[in-house]
Amino acid sequence: MIMEEHWKLVYVIGILALGFAVKSNADGSISCGFPAIYNFGDSNSDTGGISATLNEILPPNGETFFGHPAGRASDGRLIIDFIAEGIKLPYLSAYMDSIGTNFRHGANFATGGSSVRPPGFSPFNLGIQISQFIQFKARTTTLYNQLSLNRRIPLSISNLPRPAEFSQALYTFDIGQNDLGHGFQTMSEKQVRDSIPDIVGELSKAIHILYNEGARFFWIHNTGPLGCLPYNVIYGKKPGNVDKNGCVKAQNEAAMEFNKQLKNKITWLRTQLPFAKFTYVDVYSAKYDLISNAKKLGFVDPFNFCCGSFYGYHINCGKKAIVNGTVYGNPCDHPSNHISWDGIHYSETASMLVSNRILNGSLSDPPVSIQDACHHQTDI
Ligand SMILES: *[C@@H]1O[C@H](CO)[C@@H](O)[C@H](O)[C@H]1NC(C)=O
Ligand SMILES: *[C@@H]1O[C@H](CO)[C@@H](O)[C@H](O)[C@H]1NC(C)=O
Repeated sequence: MIMEEHWKLVYVIGILALGFAVKSNADGSISCGFPAIYNFGDSNSDTGGISATLNEILPPNGETFFGHPAGRASDGRLIIDFIAEGIKLPYLSAYMDSIGTNFRHGANFATGGSSVRPPGFSPFNLGIQISQFIQFKARTTTLYNQLSLNRRIPLSISNLPRPAEFSQALYTFDIGQNDLGHGFQTMSEKQVRDSIPDIVGELSKAIHILYNEGARFFWIHNTGPLGCLPYNVIYGKKPGNVDKNGCVKAQNEAAMEFNKQLKNKITWLRTQLPFAKFTYVDVYSAKYDLISNAKKLGFVDPFNFCCGSFYGYHINCGKKAIVNGTVYGNPCDHPSNHISWDGIHYSETASMLVSNRILNGSLSDPPVSIQDACHHQTDI
């Protein structure tokens, strides 16, 4: 017992020496107390970037939780929102959103359609997102320091991040799905597979750059089961190419290969970037589990979706069309019965279930929860 207390003390001092904000929980345990989140990714974690710039997200997106469109391709919250809730921070503002933003506790560089490598569905690939972060960090730091010298402006109400908190923040990633998705639309299956080492290599370079900028704590999602998205099932299903749950095999196999290489790359990064802590998170398993257990969990057919239409007539969520007397694009009455919201993106209920599974660490390597992603438990 005494030894344990001793180690705890040594450990706490160790963290304080690193300048890390340690928070004591009500039960006496210690959590990382991340003061900010910086997120990079695609529509799976976009909280308003693409909507503010290129492609406005229309109602009924946002109807379940926000009561109005909230820049997210979903009826409600995304996994990144449950991450913010999990570490008791406000929802992230999108870097490219110019209205009503607050960057005091981080910023979101993710945008719908983004891939690691250009070209893709969006101009804002990971390289652009990283340069945006570097500019964000430099300019907010300059501004913060200027304001600090000017006593008439109270810094306490500023929406700027604290410069010292960049190295204490959690850096989250959910990207790669569009590299594979775009690949399957433009290349052969073999070419998609052959492109994976380069995609993972570019992702690793981005992490390296952030590390050189002072980032230390990384929470990295692997990519989901691409071949289970209703859109891909509708357009990619051919006799003999679906698995036992009805998902497109080749696409899921590419996703699993990407994940295997990503996990190996993170193992390698741990040796290269010794002061960083990496948590690899198996989102694939959490999502695939929902799809294979859809019925047991009370969902309708996992390939049904709530908003927009790809069957018969193609119309995106938020639009409506009447063709030959049939109305296409009417949203469903109960989004929470659906895993898929719009054929490509998950419903809030599905994102919540996935978050419940991943945030406590049961699908992470190492198995730490989001609150402990500075890995103090495994360090002891
Ligand atoms: C509407 O009717 C036209 C003419 O019969 C047909 O060519 C077209 O495929 C129909 N469209 C849909 C979406 O059913
Ligand atoms: C994490 O949560 C999931 C889903 O609620 C649960 O099945 C699992 O046992 C939990 N794992 C841990 C380590 O608490």
